[in-house]
Amino acid sequence: MTVEQAILERRSIRRYTEAPLTEEQLTKLLRAAMNTPSACDCRPWEFVVVRDKEQLARLAAAGKYTGMAKDAAAVIVIIASPARQEICPGFFPQDCGAVAMNIWLQATELGLGAVWCGVYPDERLTAKIAEIVATPEDQIPFGLIVIGNPAENPGPRDRYEPERIHFDRW
Ligand SMILES: Cc1cc2nc3c(=O)[nH]c(=O)nc-3n(C[C@H](O)[C@H](O)[C@H](O)COP(=O)(O)O)c2cc1C
Repeated sequence: MTVEQAILERRSIRRYTEAPLTEEQLTKLLRAAMNTPSACDCRPWEFVVVRDKEQLARLAAAGKYTGMAKDAAAVIVIIASPARQEICPGFFPQDCGAVAMNIWLQATELGLGAVWCGVYPDERLTAKIAEIVATPEDQIPFGLIVIGNPAENPGPRDRYEPERIHFDRW
């Protein structure tokens, strides 16, 4: 699969079969995550991989829009580590957002189904997820990437809108 295909074919997949992820798939997803560029190469992130059914059910119940997590093979919780950004403070939302996309696109290439559930900056949700995955005080749950083997296929959807492009000036 080319990068272009992965970008166009990536969709939010919220229904999964019961098949687990292989260790190789999981390692590829985490390698994609950790090879994301970040401001000043600070890499302000950590990851909690959740596969335990009870933990998945807790994540599913944590938010209004996270219900699909209970049927997932795994959830990668992207944890922002602002303390790692000594040289470039403040960029962690961009860095971690890029991480989320690297994982999502890698999942697409692997034929997995995934969806990004936003956590940060919703304070109620960040607190709830922090409690579930037991992050230390100085770490911020940024987002959930919910992953499984797909049980739905919405197909690609091209949202190219040339009228939104401005050249040289608006
Ligand atoms: C920052 C962010 C947060 C999102 N949060 C959720 C969420 O909590 N629950 C959910 O089901 N989908 C969530 N989504 C998925 C979007 O709803 C989805 O990407 C959008 O509707 C476009 O559909 P597509 O991903 O199939 O192209 C989120 C996506 C992004 C980028």
